[in-house]
Amino acid sequence: MNSPNAIRTSHQIRSDFLEFFRSKGHTIVPSSPLVPGNDPTLLFTNAGMVQFKDVFLGAEKRSYTRATSSQRCVRAGGKHNDLDQVGYTARHHTFFEMLGNFSFGDYFKRDAIAWAWELLTQVWKLPADRLLVTIYHTDDEAFDIWNQVVGLPPERIIRIGDNKGAPYASDNFWQMADTGPCGPCTEIFYDHGAHIPGGPPGSPDEDGDRFIEIWNNVFMQFDRQPDGTLVPLPAPCVDTGMGLERLCAVLQHVHSNYEIDLFQHLIRAAAKITNTADLEHKSLRVIADHIRACSFLIVDGVLPSNEGRGYVLRRIIRRAVRHFWKLGALQADGAFWRMVAPLCEAMGDAYPELNTKRELVERALKAEEAAFAQTLDAGMQRLEGYLHQSDGALSGEQVFQLHDTYGCPPDLIADILREKGMTLPGETMADYERLMEQQRDRARAAGKFGGGLALPGELIAQLAPTQFEGYEGPTANDLLVQAIVRDGRPVETLRAGESAIVVLDRTPFYAESGGQVGDTGQLATANATFDVRDTLKLAGQFHGHVGALMSGELNVGDRVSGAIDAERRASTVLNHSATHLLHSALRTVLGTHVTQKGSLVAPDRLRFDFSHFQPVSAEELATIERMVNAEVRRNHSTEIHHMGMQEALDFGAMALFGEKYGERVRVLRMGETSTELCGGTHVSRTGDIGLFKIVSEGGVSAGVRRIEAVTGQGALDHVMDEERRLNDAARLLGGNASEVNEKLRALLDRQKKLEREVEQLKAKAASGATSDLAAGAVAVGDVRVLAARLEGFDAKALRDAIDRLKQQLGDAVIVLAGASDGKAALVAGVSGSAAGKVKAGELLAHVASRINGKGGGRPDLAQGGGDDGPALQAALEAVPQWVAERLH
Ligand code: ALA
Repeated sequence: MNSPNAIRTSHQIRSDFLEFFRSKGHTIVPSSPLVPGNDPTLLFTNAGMVQFKDVFLGAEKRSYTRATSSQRCVRAGGKHNDLDQVGYTARHHTFFEMLGNFSFGDYFKRDAIAWAWELLTQVWKLPADRLLVTIYHTDDEAFDIWNQVVGLPPERIIRIGDNKGAPYASDNFWQMADTGPCGPCTEIFYDHGAHIPGGPPGSPDEDGDRFIEIWNNVFMQFDRQPDGTLVPLPAPCVDTGMGLERLCAVLQHVHSNYEIDLFQHLIRAAAKITNTADLEHKSLRVIADHIRACSFLIVDGVLPSNEGRGYVLRRIIRRAVRHFWKLGALQADGAFWRMVAPLCEAMGDAYPELNTKRELVERALKAEEAAFAQTLDAGMQRLEGYLHQSDGALSGEQVFQLHDTYGCPPDLIADILREKGMTLPGETMADYERLMEQQRDRARAAGKFGGGLALPGELIAQLAPTQFEGYEGPTANDLLVQAIVRDGRPVETLRAGESAIVVLDRTPFYAESGGQVGDTGQLATANATFDVRDTLKLAGQFHGHVGALMSGELNVGDRVSGAIDAERRASTVLNHSATHLLHSALRTVLGTHVTQKGSLVAPDRLRFDFSHFQPVSAEELATIERMVNAEVRRNHSTEIHHMGMQEALDFGAMALFGEKYGERVRVLRMGETSTELCGGTHVSRTGDIGLFKIVSEGGVSAGVRRIEAVTGQGALDHVMDEERRLNDAARLLGGNASEVNEKLRALLDRQKKLEREVEQLKAKAASGATSDLAAGAVAVGDVRVLAARLEGFDAKALRDAIDRLKQQLGDAVIVLAGASDGKAALVAGVSGSAAGKVKAGELLAHVASRINGKGGGRPDLAQGGGDDGPALQAALEAVPQWVAERLH
């Protein structure tokens, strides 16, 4: 820390902080995990004080009264959510490190302030005139300490509070949550300089980037109660927090956090993995940020899932994966997990748990990426299609579909829209939330009543099995309400606003089974309407209409009419019949080892899982698609037969292994090829399917493949989307769709040729430059000495030049300075007979010492750096003299 010009690494800065407070009697406490152990109300640890909450409250005693830590924090999801800003601003992160010092009833304002000032201005030597502070508007004690003890002039001490008007009223009173420890605080700001827009804290343009808060010192004095009152803590305490990344930006003289060493390491690694030349690319920043949050969350026991912490993690991973996709850098065995090794290099020393759990982290990231990669392409296509259809204004239903079908969470969609200068309107999000809520209701209902287990036992014995009348038509009248089940218990009456499951004697509603989704629609009496949001099979024989009463009153014994959402069913039916045709085509093309392993038949798509041991090739897929469409065009009428089980098997019907069938079975036959046992609803003629289009094929688990496909209007939309994209590409290439291949090949060939030319020119230019340089070497005795300043050369380019010069000059002593932005990188080399007489490390140290820098290395090669300027010129000119002295 002696040389004021040497740049501290983030690693050193972290330990400077901890060591400084250790020297002031603090115990260094390791970071606690991101999942708070003592606070179920908090999603993630978001400040250094979280692990000490109970100590502040007096509920927990520790063996020390002063502590210091570097705490890993996540601010994504929940109340503090920076996720959507990440990558687009200079200092928003999902994950960051908070340095802090804490006093538990020990020192208070005076020491906290004096030490903060000492560390900043004496240890790190920040110029005092770049610093200013805010205090809580009534905190005269803090004012006096800053003014009289530290010596800060009054105009650099800004009171924040009611005197500034409402918008800033509560800024300098810090509180961890709605309840808990809190108190007034004083914040220290760094002025990045007048060339950056922004005003001082408390001014209208305080949000600019010029004045950046680097340190918050909270004087914990109260425990906020649920009713808002403040109860004094057992003793006044101190809680401070300083974001390591922004502090490093200040100490490393850069403006954006992404320019600090730690992030540069990750950004360079991401650039290499994704083969991206532009190190400023926003996607690299997002990836560098997200690998930190994701890895540490997994280290701390969070795994991707659909709710709570796991869902936040899933969203961050998917957002990162989308950026790899955007860079065209997805790889067959995953891309994002490759960032774990560079992260361990950058942070494993400070957080050893990262190294010990590395394999787990890599595996978890790989699995999540693999799951998402299957639907990502299709999802992005679908999103483009929606944007095209709706002129950029997505509906809640579309956002829901993108999430539900393709696994694209809304914040990821918002991220993509933002890149196009668009946003997700509030009403779209409100509609989306409503659809999600309905789906959660369905999931809850399914969880509770799934498999028929939860229908109360007494009802199962009493009720007559539901007669399904939905093959005949979408509506039916005079249906008897046999039972109403609310929260697992039978009730007689249902009132408006209440959710329940209604069991009828007959129904047109298909109950989810055989992969086909349950119907939605309405049940109605003269004065009551019941919204059916899903229909489930209960106890194998009852159709449970899951939903809520929207108006009136519904009683057991009432007679209702039922109407399903016919359009939804009609689309579902196309997909179900197509599934049968697909099944038979798969067996014809791939072999009779193919059996159905599962299926989902929804209104907008079908998914078919089947046994097969290798990927289905593109040609096989094309044959299968042609075969199914041929059956569609033959327009077979669908035959339904009811017969005994054995008879059905003799008839050639395919039965599914593991399915339970009754005595009498329903056999569905379409044309010569497809005969299956099935209770589902189907087209009356195969021609209704219109068009069948495979959207994706992939593996699900060992020996199980999955095909997703669309039919009818959905298939047409899909084809049109593809066609539009092809035409767009053709336009870009300046031709028509049929020429795309040819034009693209020509373009790629040309690019390859140009790259080769650039390489050759570069090599030529570099060797030309060094030949010119070599001519400038001077002879000192038998040795040639060369000292030169090269504009814009970095250390690597300098080393390459030295290698070439050594060959050209033979016995030589060379020192090169690469100048850029007021700094100079230095590399020195010694070769031939000069070796042994002159040491490159000594020469470099000598030159560096004259330009405020330092450096060193081996006798034959050394490197370092310092300031560019007149001193550099003088130092270089003096090199021959210095060498002459060594040689004599
Ligand atoms: N707990 C304080 C903060 O997070 C220091 O700003």
